Amino acid sequence: MAIDFFTKSLDEKYNPDSHLIDASTPPSTWYTDPRIFELEQRTVFSCSWQLVGRTDQVRESGQYISFEIAGEPVVIVRSSDGVLRGFFNVCRHHAAAVVTKCEGKAENLRCPYHGWTYDLEGKLILTPEFAGVANFDRSANGLIPVQVVEWQGWVFVKLEGCGPTLEEFLDADLIERIEPINVERLNWFERRSYFLNCNWKVFVDNYLDGGYHVPHIHGGLSSVLDNSKYKIETGARYCLQSSPIAAEKGEAQTAAARKGDQAKYFWRYPNFMINIYDEVMDTNLVIPRSVDRTEVIFDYYFADVADFAKAKNLASIAVSEQIQFEDVAICESVQHGLNSRAYDTGRLSVRREAGEHLFHRLLHADLSNGVTDRQSQKQP
Ligand code: FES
Ligand SMILES: [Fe+2]
Repeated sequence: MAIDFFTKSLDEKYNPDSHLIDASTPPSTWYTDPRIFELEQRTVFSCSWQLVGRTDQVRESGQYISFEIAGEPVVIVRSSDGVLRGFFNVCRHHAAAVVTKCEGKAENLRCPYHGWTYDLEGKLILTPEFAGVANFDRSANGLIPVQVVEWQGWVFVKLEGCGPTLEEFLDADLIERIEPINVERLNWFERRSYFLNCNWKVFVDNYLDGGYHVPHIHGGLSSVLDNSKYKIETGARYCLQSSPIAAEKGEAQTAAARKGDQAKYFWRYPNFMINIYDEVMDTNLVIPRSVDRTEVIFDYYFADVADFAKAKNLASIAVSEQIQFEDVAICESVQHGLNSRAYDTGRLSVRREAGEHLFHRLLHADLSNGVTDRQSQKQP
């Protein structure tokens, strides 16, 4: 019975082979049905490289960060040999979280429940009051590893073997675009979380509409961008949107915070964005909390994060936050409409919405693979 729902939602109501001129958005069930949300957790979010933190949080041996991906607790730690390793943050004894803080530094990883202790390589080294237990192999009870990679000063994790390989993740085409910007010269300043009453894909769609909504929703931002020259370029699993900045005639507060020649907006499938204006950068991590609830984590970076630059940096964040509030309102309006019996799918602008088209096709591939896997598991 469940398969009928997926067949309808994925195969009958969405055609991944349509070119942009013929394409429509996915059906509204992708945005409103908990079965799609659950399938996304198993596929889209378990099979992609997900941001968990920054390299500067885990430079020294023993430094760790913990995070949750698709509902799974993970911990990343710089081991004594200098290698960055990742594990499920789940004790092999009775499943308690071994690390309980978001970040920190430790000599080894000690579970707070009964004191089982793992070294920085994930090996189980101490099991208090466990003498006499038969057929127990301590060496087979280390923390379960996950794949980890550092890229441009960020740390990413992939939970499963499916999805893009490390080589595909380190996409040469994307690196060629990012490297000249030298994002690692910018310093992390502050993290802020925003919660939206909408599906996570509504936020991503809004981000990827190629500046379509900017003149209508964002008066301040629109006044400093030359939207007629807005460019949309897509790669295998990313999209770069860019626009010349024309700050002279712009609204004063926005113009002061958005300098440089060009705004660049990178999106990496499925849920990570990098927004760059010269010496100002923010990243967005879009986290589905339920089918209609989304957390977006903004990390703000600036060239200068010394005390004397604080007021200027906060003024820049205030501009970004205003844009974010405008986006929250429209995303929540869209989610309400997606629940209406009056709507199922809509068409895409050829001029503007190539990024969304790519996003929807990649989603379709991941979701379809997940359904196929489930079907094949059910075969006797
Ligand atoms: S659950 Fe970790 S030591 Fe018991
Ligand atoms: Fe926006």
